[in-house]
Amino acid sequence: MAEVKIHREFLKSDAWEELQGIQSDQRKRVPPPPLEKPAPEDAERIDLVAPDAWEVAPVTVAEAIRRRQSHRRFSEAPLSLEELSFLLWAAQGVQGVFKNGIALRRTAPSAGARHPFETYVLVNHVVDVAPGLYRYLSMEHQLCFCYAEEGLVDQAVEACHQQRWVASAAVTLIWTAIPYRTEWRYSIVSPKLVALDAGHVCENLYLACEAVGAGTCAIGAYDQQKLDALLRVDGEDEFAIYVAPVGKVP
Ligand SMILES: Cc1cc2nc3c(=O)[nH]c(=O)nc-3n(C[C@H](O)[C@H](O)[C@H](O)COP(=O)(O)O)c2cc1C
Repeated sequence: MAEVKIHREFLKSDAWEELQGIQSDQRKRVPPPPLEKPAPEDAERIDLVAPDAWEVAPVTVAEAIRRRQSHRRFSEAPLSLEELSFLLWAAQGVQGVFKNGIALRRTAPSAGARHPFETYVLVNHVVDVAPGLYRYLSMEHQLCFCYAEEGLVDQAVEACHQQRWVASAAVTLIWTAIPYRTEWRYSIVSPKLVALDAGHVCENLYLACEAVGAGTCAIGAYDQQKLDALLRVDGEDEFAIYVAPVGKVP
């Protein structure tokens, strides 16, 4: 029980008091980190359908909230690029850049507008998009190809502690945290804020799924090292934090 209680401390806000005596990098006038992880110059990119160009069926907010539930059974139907574009925008789309480029507004809120996430997209069945791992370039509203290899989806199932329904998803969104984006401003208070931020992102996805006949189920139970290895991130300055397989609902 003592062990459980130690980990419980993370949920409390005591660190705010301690923060008063700490100079965050922002207070030290250290330049802020990039708003988005840069894509390699030569990376293949796919333009997504722009927010003003898609024809997503109107669903009221009340209806989306009423219908929201976790889905672990998906049909074999693929997602269209337009549907994927909408879902990525709903989760992490950029609404505007402000404060001379040091902060963002996105479709989901974030403490201090720090937005510490990157969105990886494991494509399984998307019309006209080859299977593989991609990353959402939210500023450009594009997908950037990371890599593809045989058995990638099976590796994702294994990294998600054998939650087999991951294999039947059309795409699996995997959010990584780049904690320094939040730490730059909030230092030791950041872990709780990053965790709270992640919940908002996934809830946006849940509700957006209702507009395109799709469903998702948040996954918090995954193997950190295996998933970080699949994403090819260092596991220290960037690591997986949340997973959401998405597919059409039968
Ligand atoms: C933070 C978080 C982590 C979760 N992790 C898992 C998971 O690893 N596997 C799973 O099958 N469901 C997972 N879920 C889904 C919950 O089990 C689900 O939300 C809950 O049973 C309530 O069902 P509902 O979403 O349909 O209301 C997670 C949900 C949240 C919010």
